[in-house]
Amino acid sequence: MKGILVTGGCGFIGANFVRLLLERGYSNVAVLDKLTYAGRLENLSGVEVPVVIGDIGNLELLRYVCRAHGIDTIVNFAAETHVDQSIASPFIFTETNVRGTHVLLEVARELGLRFHQISTDEVYGTIPLGQHSLESDVLQPRSPYSASKAASDHLVQSYFVTYGLQTTTTRGSNNVGPYQFLEKVVPLFATNALLGLPLPVYGDGLQMRDYTHVSDHCTGILTVLERGAIGEIYNVGAGQEITNLEMLEVLLQTLEKPCSLIRHVADRAGHDRRYSVSVAKLEALGWKAQFSPRDAVAAAVKWYADHPDYWQPVRESSSFQAYYARQYAARLEGKS
Ligand code: NAD
Ligand code: DAU
Repeated sequence: MKGILVTGGCGFIGANFVRLLLERGYSNVAVLDKLTYAGRLENLSGVEVPVVIGDIGNLELLRYVCRAHGIDTIVNFAAETHVDQSIASPFIFTETNVRGTHVLLEVARELGLRFHQISTDEVYGTIPLGQHSLESDVLQPRSPYSASKAASDHLVQSYFVTYGLQTTTTRGSNNVGPYQFLEKVVPLFATNALLGLPLPVYGDGLQMRDYTHVSDHCTGILTVLERGAIGEIYNVGAGQEITNLEMLEVLLQTLEKPCSLIRHVADRAGHDRRYSVSVAKLEALGWKAQFSPRDAVAAAVKWYADHPDYWQPVRESSSFQAYYARQYAARLEGKS
């Protein structure tokens, strides 16, 4: 990998991945990001890489950027990523996650680049207790977000099979850690708790998630880029799940805040009950997660407690406040 283009590098996981690449000695790294509401230049503060502001759906721009920066590998993090937003406004998810990925694949085909897709465990759908998703499982996405990610996974595989494009894909589980946008549950609840606001738990809170530290996800992705087999898909996660109420217990203990902040509210439509991935295939490449879900949540929550300068401007922004009111006002009043 002589020149790496990280699309979506101003988002949560992309920014952590850019930092890892530089730590590991990859010096020719460029970022392309549209800077949607979820993308922040602050996520790359202190990092010296060229950042191009643009849309992955812009084929001419992509072609130019790849040539200008000597890119031989695209790692695609760029996406619309929040399930609740996909329920409220689904079209942009098809536009970016499906069409945008397709444009990147075409550019990679035209220029002969390696292509790595960042996918999600949500493509497998909700998983019964006792079962763990394998990379070969049939995809059963259930939200507009996960359906758009599954569609892009299929496009990636089709480019490998049809054109022999050098592709790999990772399917990560629920990430937590520095620089995550506040709409996601752990930073939302951590900052709510720090502000003394109620924590709106969807439904009974017994949904299960494999909360994974973003640093483990990033080392998993790099492992696949360096040692993964072309054309293959690899799950990435801690490989164990906890319920949302257990996640909350860790969060409140870490912040020394009371359980009385918990408020059960109307559930998310089509809420997937459980995700659970087998990570044996990635472990066979020599990778291992360093954080359990509980340790990952505690570390993430501590980061938000220690970095109010990072999240306070977002909480105070009119766009976030409008989102919060749309998503939670009726729920917190007991209406759905
Ligand atoms: P994020 O929402 O924090 O960041 C997404 C980034 O993509 C933002 O910087 C945004 O500006 C950029 N972007 C959006 N649309 C774009 C477009 N059309 N062109 C260029 N840039 C665009 O997301 P994240 O949590 O960092 O997720 C990154 C990737 O990882 C996504 O593909 C997501 O599906 C996947 N993923 C996320 C998780 C998780 O728990 N957050 C887990 C598994 C997989
Ligand atoms: O599993 C991987 C996925 O993890 C990624 O593909 C997605 O991009 C990422 O957003 C995340 O999806 P989730 O839907 O699992 O994450 P979220 O933080 O939105 O919710 C986590 C759990 O917490 C889920 O069961 C819903 C619940 N929740 C969430 C919010 C925002 C609540 O109970 N209340 C809330 O206010």
